[in-house]
Amino acid sequence: MLLAILISLTGALGSTASGEGEPRATTRCKEAERHALLEIKENLHGRDVGFLSSWGIGDERRECCEWIGIRCDNKSGHVIRLDLSPSTHDGRGFYDLEGNLSSSLVDLHYLQYLDLSYIDFSGNSFPSFIGGLNKLRYLNLSYTYLSGKVPPQLGNLSSLQFLDLSETYLKIKDMEWASHLSSLQLLDLSSTNMSFAHDWVHVVNNLPHLKILKLRESYLPVTVPLSRSFVNSSKVLAIIDLFSNHDLSSSIFQWLFNYSHSLVHLDLTSCSLNGSIPEAFDNMAALEYLDLSWNELEGSIPQSFGNMTTLEFLDLSWNELEGSIP
Ligand SMILES: *[C@@H]1O[C@H](CO)[C@@H](O)[C@H](O)[C@H]1NC(C)=O
Ligand SMILES: *[C@@H]1O[C@H](CO)[C@@H](O)[C@H](O)[C@H]1NC(C)=O
Ligand SMILES: *[C@@H]1O[C@H](CO)[C@@H](O)[C@H](O)[C@H]1NC(C)=O
Ligand SMILES: *[C@@H]1O[C@H](CO)[C@@H](O)[C@H](O)[C@H]1NC(C)=O
Ligand SMILES: *[C@@H]1O[C@H](CO)[C@@H](O)[C@H](O)[C@H]1NC(C)=O
Ligand SMILES: *[C@@H]1O[C@H](CO)[C@@H](O)[C@H](O)[C@H]1NC(C)=O
Ligand SMILES: *[C@@H]1O[C@H](CO)[C@@H](O)[C@H](O)[C@H]1NC(C)=O
Ligand SMILES: *[C@@H]1O[C@H](CO)[C@@H](O)[C@H](O)[C@H]1NC(C)=O
Ligand SMILES: *[C@@H]1O[C@H](CO)[C@@H](O)[C@H](O)[C@H]1NC(C)=O
Repeated sequence: MLLAILISLTGALGSTASGEGEPRATTRCKEAERHALLEIKENLHGRDVGFLSSWGIGDERRECCEWIGIRCDNKSGHVIRLDLSPSTHDGRGFYDLEGNLSSSLVDLHYLQYLDLSYIDFSGNSFPSFIGGLNKLRYLNLSYTYLSGKVPPQLGNLSSLQFLDLSETYLKIKDMEWASHLSSLQLLDLSSTNMSFAHDWVHVVNNLPHLKILKLRESYLPVTVPLSRSFVNSSKVLAIIDLFSNHDLSSSIFQWLFNYSHSLVHLDLTSCSLNGSIPEAFDNMAALEYLDLSWNELEGSIPQSFGNMTTLEFLDLSWNELEGSIP
């Protein structure tokens, strides 16, 4: 026991002595995690990614907690945040980094935040081992060129609060996996293919903390929502963006009125809404932004819009409506 303490002390002193003018008692970085990070780097290739050069193997670069894109927990020293997105580091949003995601990622057991957006995974399938990172709260895989299905293992991430899978080539054939993500506050599946995900309304209804739902251009199927699925529904859903889903008709309004008390921002531009605008909009007591442009709505503009004092933005253009906005 004593011997072990002595060895670790001399080890620590040794690293201070050789520490390139940078006095430091201990290296916080865990060896296994440093190794995992280097494996991840090994499988990625960049044209113009200076930030990864801070990830080194030399003695002076042992402290992985100081590598760009990494954050460690102050106390335990475990890696809790990994941001490899070229858009964070060069602010440009170009595909400067490409390759494969190493399964060594799962050795970062304490990871809470993972941003891989804008890494070109060139059509690789969704890495199911991400489902092993059960402390994740934030996962951003937008603009990654992942394809194939979302693996059911993603449903294991029960702490997940923010999930962005937008602008990928993913096919979302059902939403069963998402129904387990009970901490979810933001869900963005824009520009995926959800044409077979008939359960999407049901699953959304049962995410009690969901605040932001973005399903722009995601080929949403016609769905008749069941009222019994509202038992545990969100009371905080504030932003719904369904821009450009051409199979949605006016039956979607009935569903949206369940969120009358919380909805602040509603975008239904360029769907296939038809018939007249329901009067019940005036129950939307918090609504500030409403875009219904580019639909097939007809009839007269409800006078009740004039009573919606919270409304700051209203666009009804490119419909067949009569009358003027009160
Ligand atoms: C952890 O360290 C960072 C950087 O030194 C500091 O900004 C942050 O406040 C610290 N957090 C805690 C909880 O001590
Ligand atoms: C990614 O993996 C595939 C097959 O496993 C391999 O052919 C390809 O060269 C790898 N790409 C990179 C950039 O390492
Ligand atoms: C995910 O990353 C993209 C690109 O870097 C960014 O625009 C988007 O806001 C991020 N999503 C979330 C939920 O933070
Ligand atoms: C992860 O999810 C899969 C599929 O849903 C399940 O079979 C597996 O037991 C889960 N693993 C853990 C560690 O929860
Ligand atoms: C979406 O996926 C379905 C099923 O795989 C396919 O039939 C359909 O053509 C896809 N739609 C688009 C726009 O890619
Ligand atoms: C609603 O939530 C409660 C508490 O989280 C849970 O026990 C119950 O099974 C849920 N009901 C439904 C229908 O999902
Ligand atoms: C909630 O949605 C269901 C299904 O669309 C609908 O039948 C019901 O009238 C809605 N309830 C309210 C209060 O809007
Ligand atoms: C709206 O479109 C749906 C689906 O195409 C159709 O079933 C319905 O009759 C239309 N309603 C009106 C009022 O035109
Ligand atoms: C607007 O509100 C007033 C006062 O609550 C009410 O008398 C009136 O009928 C409402 N107008 C419409 C068009 O809903």
